[in-house]
Amino acid sequence: SLPVVIDCDPGVDDAIALLLALASPELEVRGVTTVAGNAALADVTRNAAHVLDLAGAPAGLPLVAGLAGPIARPARIADEPMHGAGGLGGLAPAGPPRAPGPGHAVDFLAEQALAAPGALTLVAIGPLSNVAALLARHPQAGPALREIVVMGGAAFAQGNITPAAEFNFYADPEAARCVLESGVPVRVVGLDVTRAALLPLQAAEHLAGLAGAAGAAGELLRGFVERYRERFGVAAVPVHDALALAGLIDPGLLEYGHGSATVECAGEVTRGALVADLRTPGRSRTVRIARSVDADRFTALLTERLARHAG
Ligand code: BDR
Ligand code: CA
Repeated sequence: SLPVVIDCDPGVDDAIALLLALASPELEVRGVTTVAGNAALADVTRNAAHVLDLAGAPAGLPLVAGLAGPIARPARIADEPMHGAGGLGGLAPAGPPRAPGPGHAVDFLAEQALAAPGALTLVAIGPLSNVAALLARHPQAGPALREIVVMGGAAFAQGNITPAAEFNFYADPEAARCVLESGVPVRVVGLDVTRAALLPLQAAEHLAGLAGAAGAAGELLRGFVERYRERFGVAAVPVHDALALAGLIDPGLLEYGHGSATVECAGEVTRGALVADLRTPGRSRTVRIARSVDADRFTALLTERLARHAG
């Protein structure tokens, strides 16, 4: 199975992504790191701990907190409504969560990359602050990674936080640019595909009827769909971060364009915009951008895997 570390900011869809990864034998989760994004660092770290407890993840699975804000700007925390109070609205944990481990996410990521040269995939589903800091502080670590899988950006579609930008790239555009221009193989799973693979309310309701962590995942998703429906009038929701994980579990799920990409950092109205250059033949082709998705296959995979948490 493919060794991965997941850098996240739970967040409902991050929580679902973690549950998906932990239920999938194709992946070996070697650790979870956190970054400020959907909520402040302390909140997202607590949320990640709750999710690991819920999933019954081994006590020894590393959970390490990282940066509390962007690498070059003041922190901007996402609006509460989509993810609910504290970033994980709908989850009502029984007691206090496990404590995160010692150290810093950026150093943990470097250790993991260097311990398994060419083998580790870093899945980044929050703002890219930790990943950019990793590449800057530990120059040998980036080239030692097999791949960085990023949930972020909108290359062809509209943004979500602004018309031009998706939240993770908008939150820390300098970090996103560092990662995309690093020369490390990067796979981008952005709004182009996450919005084309909406999880229907019925799938959330089906899961909510199951026992254990599967039921909790269903409740989380049901709340997510309700908030999405209030805002956009659609009873189905993009589970952005889970799609990025799913692309690793099922290599045929997404179709990609190859080329290079960067992120707008200075634009007056385009901060955080993903600019992909897929013209052929590109000089640099280290970036793959997901362009299309088999939506039914994603819904089937996600619901089947989350159902495995029914215990
Ligand atoms: C991304 O932003 C966050 O709110 C989600 O968790 C996802 O990673 C979608 O734009
Ligand atoms: Ca996220």
